[in-house]
Amino acid sequence: MRGLFIALLCINSRAFAQQALPIPDTLSGNNFNLRMHKDSVQWFQGKITQTLSFNEYKYLGPTLILYKGDEVNISVKNEIGDTTTVHWHGLHVPAIWNGGPHSPILDGDTWKPNFTVLDNASTYWYHPHFDKKTALQAIKGAAGLIIVRDKEEAALALPRTYGVDDIPLVVQCKQLDADNQAMPRGMQDSTLMVNGAINAYVNLPAQVIRFRLLNASGERSFNFGFSQNKSFYVIGNDGGLLKKPAATTRVRLSPGERAEVLIDLSGMNTQSLYLMSYASELNVGVQGGPTMPMPPGSPPMDSPLNGIDFNILKIQVVEQNANAITSIPNSLVTLLPYEEKNASITRLINITAKDSLTMDGPFYFNDSTFDMMRIDYTIPLNSTEIWSITNKSMVAHPFHTHDVQFYILDRDGNPTPERERGRKDVVLVEPNETVRIIMKFEDHADTIVPYMYHCHVLMHEDDGMMGQFMVVPASSSSIPRLEKSAYLLYPNPSNGKAHLDLNDIGNKPEIIVDVYDSKGLHLMSMTEENSNKQSLDLDLSSLANGLYFLHINKQTYKYIKGN
Ligand code: C2O
Ligand code: CU
Repeated sequence: MRGLFIALLCINSRAFAQQALPIPDTLSGNNFNLRMHKDSVQWFQGKITQTLSFNEYKYLGPTLILYKGDEVNISVKNEIGDTTTVHWHGLHVPAIWNGGPHSPILDGDTWKPNFTVLDNASTYWYHPHFDKKTALQAIKGAAGLIIVRDKEEAALALPRTYGVDDIPLVVQCKQLDADNQAMPRGMQDSTLMVNGAINAYVNLPAQVIRFRLLNASGERSFNFGFSQNKSFYVIGNDGGLLKKPAATTRVRLSPGERAEVLIDLSGMNTQSLYLMSYASELNVGVQGGPTMPMPPGSPPMDSPLNGIDFNILKIQVVEQNANAITSIPNSLVTLLPYEEKNASITRLINITAKDSLTMDGPFYFNDSTFDMMRIDYTIPLNSTEIWSITNKSMVAHPFHTHDVQFYILDRDGNPTPERERGRKDVVLVEPNETVRIIMKFEDHADTIVPYMYHCHVLMHEDDGMMGQFMVVPASSSSIPRLEKSAYLLYPNPSNGKAHLDLNDIGNKPEIIVDVYDSKGLHLMSMTEENSNKQSLDLDLSSLANGLYFLHINKQTYKYIKGN
């Protein structure tokens, strides 16, 4: 292990003094309003940094508190001057409300997803997911946490007073350019922030503290631990609690991954310690770990934080609260991992690179790049599947699936450590490693909108390291093809204001749109002559909610009028 560095010394002498850790406010109830907008933050002397954020925040957004079983209505207003989407990372929601690239929110528009919360108590998050723009928008700060609560978790003696003994930590590293602007592709990502604060500290009472850790970086993995190797307990993975607390001194989180941990600060009043990343212990090839010697002429990849141990957050222990939790529970929840024998298929996914001998992208799944019009896997509802992911590139990739949570079966045949035996939606696959995951595709089927799987290194995702799967009704006899309307006509569903992308309709002297109801009754028609426009605005707000067929220059598209 190399020497211990104080992060501040080695990263950025432009930083302001220590800042108290900001704790984002919570929103709860059944109706949520989010407004994504442009803002700015004065992080460093000199130029202010342009950001994207939600609601009253200048960076990041409020924490949404959801209760399992509740129906929620969310309104997402886009005021960023560009198209975006908002994805509920980790939540098990219908594909149309999942917020992937197929659900663009145009500038000025409002998107209104609604769904029942089916997820187990855990820490999830929301962030943009527009094709090729995820890195740009997320790195600028458009992200926030989602905490799901449920009865099982509520019955346990765990710290859960938000901001007091239950502390959300959104940990990010990014590169700012000479003008202090966030670089979506910056690989010298040495500006480290927690909940948007650089050089943060927090006062915490001398009792058991729960941290909800999220790695919201574009590419860096953190090997979390505490100073002096103080031991702690992992109690939850991405999608829920473990069977029992797993004692450890490290938890590695790649981009998109979460962990809930407990640390016992009892008896430590007036002492201080650090949350750290022991990145010297990461393997070569894991972003943020020790760097490998690069062939001459390669772009610089070396952030000063790579391969060293650095501090992330200073913790100053203060007096214990009344009614403090002072012990670690022996057991948590019942987990029923899916059984291998119930899997109907094993899908082999090879991670490949354009040039397998360098660490440069673009990277692919099974040698193909993302295509909005290609469904990679069609999955009958309620099937259990094993996905076996083999990394044949020189860098590690955090593999992420939408829709459902999975369990890790094994890594190179080796059993998963206790601290990773919970429900997950991101798993890091190291170079030359094979990770097998198992999941069951329950509840939501859709023949129009697919779900995504992708690398959560945001620039890899934007460069096409993404695929799509469609969960279809178990009874469907034929394999559906992707409805073009999923991306030509959007938002779909919408409240009646829909945009038709004309680029893919072809150069037609006129565009004729005929609207039919689901029984084939002709309702209206519209003609646009000599259109040189790139898109056409259709006003379908007079239609009742429901399914329609639009015949557009003799092609048929499904359209759903919703709210
Ligand atoms: Cu957090 Cu598809 O992403
Ligand atoms: Cu990747």
